[in-house]
Amino acid sequence: MKESLKIKERVIELHKLINFHSYNYHSLDSPSIEDHEYDALFNELLNLEAEYPRYKYSYSPSQRVGSEPLEGFVKVEHLAPMLSLDNAFNSDDMHDFNKRILDRLTGKEAISYSCEPKLDGIAVNLLYKNGHIEKATTRGDGKVGEDITHNVKTINSIPLSLMNDESELPNLIEIRGEVFIEKDDFDSNNKKAAKLGQKTFANPRNAAAGSLRQLDPTVAASRPLKFFAHGIGFIDKGNFELPKSQSDTLKLYKAWGLPTNPLSDVVSNIKECEDYFEKVSNQRQKLPYEIDGVVFKVNDLKDQITLGQVSRAPRWAIARKFPAEVGTTFVKKISFQVGRVGSITPVAEFEPVNIGGVIVSHASIHNFDEIERLDVREGDTVRVKRAGDVIPQIISVDIGKRKKTSTEVQPPDSCPSCDGKLIKPDGEAILRCTAGLSCPAQKCESLIHFVSRNALNIDGLGERIIDLLVERGLVSNFADLFKLNKDDILKLDGFRDKSATNLLDSINAAKDTTLARFIYSLGIREVGEATALNLALNFNNIAAFLVATEEDLLEINDIGPVASKFILEFLSKKENIKLVNDLLHLGVSPEDIKIEDNHPFSSKSIVITGSFTNIARSQLKEELIRVGARVTSSVSAKTDFLVSGEKPGSKLKKATDLGIKILEEEEALKLLQD
Ligand code: IVH
Repeated sequence: MKESLKIKERVIELHKLINFHSYNYHSLDSPSIEDHEYDALFNELLNLEAEYPRYKYSYSPSQRVGSEPLEGFVKVEHLAPMLSLDNAFNSDDMHDFNKRILDRLTGKEAISYSCEPKLDGIAVNLLYKNGHIEKATTRGDGKVGEDITHNVKTINSIPLSLMNDESELPNLIEIRGEVFIEKDDFDSNNKKAAKLGQKTFANPRNAAAGSLRQLDPTVAASRPLKFFAHGIGFIDKGNFELPKSQSDTLKLYKAWGLPTNPLSDVVSNIKECEDYFEKVSNQRQKLPYEIDGVVFKVNDLKDQITLGQVSRAPRWAIARKFPAEVGTTFVKKISFQVGRVGSITPVAEFEPVNIGGVIVSHASIHNFDEIERLDVREGDTVRVKRAGDVIPQIISVDIGKRKKTSTEVQPPDSCPSCDGKLIKPDGEAILRCTAGLSCPAQKCESLIHFVSRNALNIDGLGERIIDLLVERGLVSNFADLFKLNKDDILKLDGFRDKSATNLLDSINAAKDTTLARFIYSLGIREVGEATALNLALNFNNIAAFLVATEEDLLEINDIGPVASKFILEFLSKKENIKLVNDLLHLGVSPEDIKIEDNHPFSSKSIVITGSFTNIARSQLKEELIRVGARVTSSVSAKTDFLVSGEKPGSKLKKATDLGIKILEEEEALKLLQD
């Protein structure tokens, strides 16, 4: 054998040996070799890599803290989106969830679930190519995350190469999981940091997030980060045989050397989900890491595919959250905030209080009826509840501790931001400022929405900078953002040459966007992300959307008279059309949706009824639209096809009466594939 081949073989063998002993030490807590023996293997590898740099692979165990600090974070698109989870707060919610599933998976009597503690950590995506780690990313907006490979590689329990002695490996796989810090490690790390005068964190989750958001990998390497794998993203399976269930996936991960939560279990029905939840709730305090609930996933992967997803959460999983945590504090002040569309919300400012590891300093109060119901006043002592990521809420006032001099909160007479007139529309419990974008607060809130993650996603342009830009008169509408130059930005506090260039770069990068994001970013009332996607799919390009009529809008499934009214109101205002055109002239280019025109469904009018076994209804609709069909909500003489699933409604009868062609699920799916 050639000398160089022998060297390569030894290098690969050293990887395997080191990875194996490192796994035993870091993941199993059961060292299989003396420290000095391990050091000898490691040194041998370092020496070979120094002598033969061509055998220094990016996934070598020597490369855990290999890279120099980065200049900035790079965005990476996930191969499959990273979804979030719907929440359940009680047994009823769980039973509803189970029922929804039973309704869709016709013929099943009970559902088997994989039960897993819901770690309160940071979601990460690990991409392995031919078994070697290629990239690690944050969740980001679910579609695009940030490259944190340099930091994730420092986590000793994450294998740089999957162990695959027994099984084939997929060509490419996205492994999803949670990076976290254990409670004790967090405490000692915070104490150490405080002693050294360094930054401390409010809770383990923030500490984990702070460690991963570092450009210099030596910081993450110094933090006690851990990882549990819990899901699968994209997979290009090659010869690898896919697991059949979520629990098999977890077993497989374990066999590959990835840490998985030992408390995960499989149950055979919803009743046992309750028992599992009880069990984990009782163990919660004693667990070494923080959890905020339990995740239940339909175990059978085929069933998961059938169930599909709604918006950004799968139908096949749910997070049952632990009850909220409660704390007591003092209301320093009650002020009024103006929202994006003028709603006035009372906000209570507190003496900061630590509730379940999170410092809470304010809570918004729904509206004035809620102030009256609680009878909360400035100076009151209140009980505040915090549940997961939900905004904290005042639950009650300790009237006994109230000062005699305290007075009731009065609603403002005029807008706290622009002093404009306030109205209380009929049937609404909310006061509104009617000044629209001439009100500075609404201007700022609209801009914040415009640049937010799920809208144009302009990185580095947060609330503080927007406030500054508006205050300095540099920006007064969306289009002004694209007219900013470096000198403008350098006028703002805290900006240097590099950070100004970065901000301009991200503003520029946001110009290439999707039609759905663009429509959503405009902040039209009642047009959330799902509606924006619907509008985009139906109008295909911005020009068509700008001339939408009431008839067009009402024909779109899921768009009712209220949303339609707000959309038409928006489109009828000259200044809004000018704003959109200005944005387009400044280079913002929402990508047209390409709809096929040579498909049997192209330009056909189609109505869907009933539920489907092999495709989620929302997905069926999206796919029909993509091949050029117009999916409408009611059957009329103009309807070309009715796609009828199980338990069809009255639409089937109407279509039959009108002699409209009826397609069963299978036929429709077959035609879609053509
Ligand atoms: S599954 C499609 N399993 O909870 C399902 N998530 O909003 C995606 N999380 O960001 C998540 N423990 O990072 C799943 N055992 C577990 C989890 C878990 C924690 C996090 C996850 C996600 C969030 C859900």
